[in-house]
Amino acid sequence: MRAHLLIHDRRGFFRGVAVLTLLGLPAFARGQALAVSPFSAQVEKQAAEMRRKMTLEEKVGQLVQFPNGGTRGPDGKGIDQNELVARGGVGSLMNPPDAGAVNAFQKQAVEKSRMKIPVIVAMDVIHGYRTIFPVPLALSASWDPGLVEKTSRVAAVEATSEGIRWTFSPMVDIARDARWGRIMEGAGEDPYLGALFAAAAVRGYQGKDLSDPTSMVACVKHFVAYGGAESGRDYNAVDMSDRTLRDVYFPPFQAAVDAGAGSLMSAFSSLQGVPASANHDTLTDVLRGEWGFRGFVVSDWNSVGELINHGVALDGETAARKAVTAGVDMDMGSGLYGENLVKLVRSGKVPERAVDEAVERILRVKIAMGLFSHPYTDETRSKTVLLAPEHVALARRAAEESFVLLKNDPISGGAPALPLADGKTVALIGPLADSAGDMLGGWEGRGQGSDVVTLKQALAGRLKDKLVYAKGTEIETDSEAGFHDALDAANRADVVVMALGESRGMTGEAASRTKLDLPGNQLKLLEAVAATGKPVVLVLFSGRPLALPWEAAHLPAILEAWFPGVQAGPALVDTLYGESNPAGKLTASFPRSVGQEPLYYSVMNTGRPVNPGNPYVTRYIDELTTAQFPFGWGLSYTKFDYSPTKITTPAAHVKELNGGAAITVEATVTNSGARAGEEIAQLYIRERGTSVVRPIRELKGYQKILLKAGESRLVRFMLTKRELGFWNIDRKQTVEPCELTVWVAPHSEAGQSSQMTIAP
Ligand code: NOJ
Repeated sequence: MRAHLLIHDRRGFFRGVAVLTLLGLPAFARGQALAVSPFSAQVEKQAAEMRRKMTLEEKVGQLVQFPNGGTRGPDGKGIDQNELVARGGVGSLMNPPDAGAVNAFQKQAVEKSRMKIPVIVAMDVIHGYRTIFPVPLALSASWDPGLVEKTSRVAAVEATSEGIRWTFSPMVDIARDARWGRIMEGAGEDPYLGALFAAAAVRGYQGKDLSDPTSMVACVKHFVAYGGAESGRDYNAVDMSDRTLRDVYFPPFQAAVDAGAGSLMSAFSSLQGVPASANHDTLTDVLRGEWGFRGFVVSDWNSVGELINHGVALDGETAARKAVTAGVDMDMGSGLYGENLVKLVRSGKVPERAVDEAVERILRVKIAMGLFSHPYTDETRSKTVLLAPEHVALARRAAEESFVLLKNDPISGGAPALPLADGKTVALIGPLADSAGDMLGGWEGRGQGSDVVTLKQALAGRLKDKLVYAKGTEIETDSEAGFHDALDAANRADVVVMALGESRGMTGEAASRTKLDLPGNQLKLLEAVAATGKPVVLVLFSGRPLALPWEAAHLPAILEAWFPGVQAGPALVDTLYGESNPAGKLTASFPRSVGQEPLYYSVMNTGRPVNPGNPYVTRYIDELTTAQFPFGWGLSYTKFDYSPTKITTPAAHVKELNGGAAITVEATVTNSGARAGEEIAQLYIRERGTSVVRPIRELKGYQKILLKAGESRLVRFMLTKRELGFWNIDRKQTVEPCELTVWVAPHSEAGQSSQMTIAP
């Protein structure tokens, strides 16, 4: 159960419904069997009946997915896709250019193929289709799953207008290593938050009813633990304990399944020595057996073929056999199902039941989507929905909600560096100030640079001749040719805004880094500009946490803008000038040094916790162990004070908690500043005296509240077995007797704790 609260935005307008996670995660019980199905009994029956009428060849055809255009056969020769579709050899097509192409394929499928089964058309619609929103990591910094539900809905409305009814999103992989470029695509390091965002995205894409032509089937990825890649290097092997899997990496997937996700994608990576796309334990025992998932699993691109590279298959036939019997229903791109499954079944190497189950899972989704009754896309709709004004307005709001004010010190003992005062001349410097394409971030769907309003454009609109601009340098270069102009601009201004960071190609798939600094010579430029003595505000663009020790020590203000999407400029100008008061908080820790990675707040204490003065403890000899900016961190233009945390439940027993009792925790948050602002009050717990080691802190609730200047609000949280339970030494999801410490805090390293005993 969740409570909802109406909240108002910083300008006082009604802003919608914010989820208050008073009672923890949505319908979500880890490790327990769940009968969750978005499919009615009627849909299940229809799928089974249809399957019974199909030939083996037709059934295998449904398990095949190809990209638009580029299909090749085993001999390497191109295959006529129309002909393939017409003979029922394709179940899904990805990346079509437009609605016309989708309709042409559907015509082949529904009018020419014997079974008349429509194809399901897919694309990576990750953070918007044409109206591009901030990248997912940025959106998660809003701590507002309701916002992600809305951005996902808009993405679905736009994408479906061009025939895309299935998106390879959300990516719900927990990411604890900022070197991993795909950290940009998820909701950060925490399972509690990750689960909320996973469910919200599914609800947004799929809408109320999958058969609505504006509904898009979600594909939750990458199952599972892909974010745990060793060394933060994409595609690398993953090795972690079952406990970490259960407590940390599974929850967002299970929440998405609970929310009714129609499909999942199996990961590229191996887990405990078993490639995710041939892993019966995870794909069948856990996903279907424990969680009751009734949709279908698609492989990642060629991940069936890559079983050979992993070394668990020597040929395509074995790879196809291992994948389909493990539970991968659809083969994305390798062609190995199409080439091998018929003969594998005929020779008895793959039971026909495995193919039958896979087909039924896919048919269920197609039936529930209403594809049989309305296979075609209305080719006129896209004109009215792509970049509709309300979509663009949502992009602006989403960007504002995602910004995180990392630092904001007073300048020369006066007012804080931000917000900027009106009437001053501003020097805008940096390679990202006017780089429209970069604002879109990676996986930009059908987004175009020409849709973007850059920071330079928006600032010029506001400041007219009080803006001086110099690019200064490129994102990655050694050339200092632009430094002179940049210094000149700084010298002519009262204040400098530096727009620095990564290019959009530096995060996302296959974009891992070993350095987490500003690329190229951007830091050198920044140091030179700061040496002019002008106050410098850094606006940072990135798809991952960066390690910025010099910047954190020397600059008065840093605003993390991520890759903000089409409304980057207007949202930034609103924020820089204080019309919008930043309220975002980090969902991934910012390190002091890349050598600290993987870095996350929710660590185990060790037998030798940090203890200043004692060298034989867990530490580095050349760096602190803490984050530069920790999980949950984010400042506001106003100030919030927290009362001590109070537990208002006098006693608790495991037995009562298992029977549904709750522990109540509360604190009062006061806006002690001079203006209204939103605060994200966070509930953390620690359990000691347990059968296994528990993290030093775990997020178990939060409330995003708007407080007027001077206003106080009591925030109250309930801890139930859902929040207190964990995968214990007996491999059971349970609450144990323990000493419980709780904090209601502004971030993961703050707060005044309170304690109680949970008795047997
Ligand atoms: C590979 C990526 O890992 C996956 O996330 C994506 O959905 C597919 N390619 C399809 O583009």
